[in-house]
Amino acid sequence: MRKLLITSALPYANGSIHLGHLVEYIQTDIWVRFQKMQGHEAYYVCADDTHGTPIMLRAEKEGVTPEELIKKVHIEHSKDFSDFFVNFDNFYSTNSPENLELSQIVYKKLKQNNKIYTKTIEQFYDPAKEMFLPDRFIKGECPKCHAKDQYGDSCEVCGATYAPTELINPTSSVSGAVPFRKETEHYFFKLSECESFLADWTSSGTLQQEAANKMKEWFKSGLADWDISRDAPYFGFEIPNAPGKYFYVWLDAPIGYMASFKKLCEDKKINFDEFWNADSKTELYHFIGKDILYFHALFWPATLEFSGYRKPTKIFAHGFLTVNAEKMSKSRGTFITARSYLDHIKNPDYLRYYYAAKLNSTMEDIDLNLDDFLSRVNSDLVGKFINIASRTSGFIHKYFEGKLFLDDSKTDQEHISVSQKCKDIENEIKTCFEAREYGHAVREIMRVADITNEYVNTKAPWTLAKDEAQHKPGSELHVICSRSLEAFRRLSIYLTPILPKLTKDIAIFFNEKEFASFKDIDKKDITVNEYQHILTRVEKKDIDMMIESNKESLDKHTEPPKKVDDNQSTILIDDFLKIDLRVALIKEASFVEGADSLLKLTLDINDGRLRQVFAGIKSKYNPDQLVGKLTVMVANLKPRQMKFGLSEGMVLAASNESEGPFVLYPDQGAKPGMRIK
Ligand code: 2FM
Ligand code: ZN
Repeated sequence: MRKLLITSALPYANGSIHLGHLVEYIQTDIWVRFQKMQGHEAYYVCADDTHGTPIMLRAEKEGVTPEELIKKVHIEHSKDFSDFFVNFDNFYSTNSPENLELSQIVYKKLKQNNKIYTKTIEQFYDPAKEMFLPDRFIKGECPKCHAKDQYGDSCEVCGATYAPTELINPTSSVSGAVPFRKETEHYFFKLSECESFLADWTSSGTLQQEAANKMKEWFKSGLADWDISRDAPYFGFEIPNAPGKYFYVWLDAPIGYMASFKKLCEDKKINFDEFWNADSKTELYHFIGKDILYFHALFWPATLEFSGYRKPTKIFAHGFLTVNAEKMSKSRGTFITARSYLDHIKNPDYLRYYYAAKLNSTMEDIDLNLDDFLSRVNSDLVGKFINIASRTSGFIHKYFEGKLFLDDSKTDQEHISVSQKCKDIENEIKTCFEAREYGHAVREIMRVADITNEYVNTKAPWTLAKDEAQHKPGSELHVICSRSLEAFRRLSIYLTPILPKLTKDIAIFFNEKEFASFKDIDKKDITVNEYQHILTRVEKKDIDMMIESNKESLDKHTEPPKKVDDNQSTILIDDFLKIDLRVALIKEASFVEGADSLLKLTLDINDGRLRQVFAGIKSKYNPDQLVGKLTVMVANLKPRQMKFGLSEGMVLAASNESEGPFVLYPDQGAKPGMRIK
């Protein structure tokens, strides 16, 4: 029996869990469930990542303390995870007494080992807010393409990265004040001294090949020492004997893995030291996104090595999620939260299945193609897998008191072989799970489901059932249905790490509590209950509604589009004239703080007042490009209160699924206020 401690990255406590996060939690949860079903002692821990400036500022904006904010988010996150059957042994918080204690221990050991020093550096300071600003909170003009309102570290328009000092006309996005450079003393971890240790560690099989290669590139440019402190005001842990200095969130976040486990150890009487001592024989695995490799493959092992703890056994990095082959987007409605998925699609196993079918052990991105999601779930799970049971179990229940006939000595080999084929892939399935090649496992399982269905088709039990002689125990009808259901049960056991809810319902159908172990696979005394409808199809309309409800645009809160009946696909001219379309002059245009897709426009239609409109066109337009232009607006749309202010109309723009929006401009000669008809 192996002893394993497994983690997923700690989600920040200032945002909702979305489908991008879930790739990792589902990937990890499948692996942990697999290990537990193998009979290993495996623990899965996680926590909310609660510290740092963004969380502090968000709490302030919401008029609550950071503690209140992270408590609220913890409840929300915990529910999202449990509703997706992500089964942590402990889901904790980095703002915990265990984490404070461990962070201090780690820091003191690093200090004793002469790995910490202080240095005076210059940082941007917001004089109005009286705080040092992280790069993300400084905005200004991009030094390369001159786009306005870009972040202090990178430009969203041209993609350039730079130091905040290079920004033209920087301002603080916290207060709007002009920040200036101010000296401050920071604490540094001597990462540069860890280079030879890290070069060995990262090339010793702890990382995927692509990750190890990336490390080599990083080593080429040399490792810089790591700035581990931040100045007050900061929501985090104060550094011992350094008043007003706090641990940077990325120092205490991974220690949060240890802290969450420590709490579990206290609750469950597990030996913490056995898992964390430098000479530990247990296994430690971190599942992470490829964007945080630097932290996990460099800072973290170096921190552990020089504070006297064990290092990770392996780090498993995965790629990013795209939806319909594009980055998740609020304006397209593809930035989908876990809650929104549950509200619309309802069944988390569908997503778990789809992700599993796409996941492998590499760092490649995975795409959630929503049409493919619909057809794959419906054809594999409903059409192939559940179909085996729905076609055969009725006969077992009706004629054979729910008992399967699995006597090998009285059954022809051809019947035995169908469920034997399921058994034959057991080792391959296990190897795939262990290697995180879930897509391969799913393909094998579905291949054997196809074989089982073909067997049922060929044997046509529904035809045999017409003959009363077949209703006796041990008849061919009994054998066929029994072997199909035995196959179905075996496949269900393989699918249990992926589909915990569905397979639990299936276990109950087999009069079992759950499929807890792969050892359950050879059970001979199998009975079934009356078949109840276990799984329904995914509906296109539910996916459409989900996308619609996630669109951050003006349309979001208007009524859902009415279905156009074929007979009524035309409208009368009067219907069209109800819409008051006007030529509008864009007098002002600006970005909207906190909105990813919106621009705020001030429109003039020459009727003595200006109208404010929020338009979902930020992805294509800079405010500067629009000011002074004429466009077309719906002038009689009922004003609507949005999160960012009142919107008093709508501008027209063209788009299709992959391109746009393209704002409409009238031909020369058109004047503000002219009616469009
Ligand atoms: O990138 C993130 O979302 C971080 N909150 C992950 C932290 S993982 C660990 F190191 F704590
Ligand atoms: Zn730029």
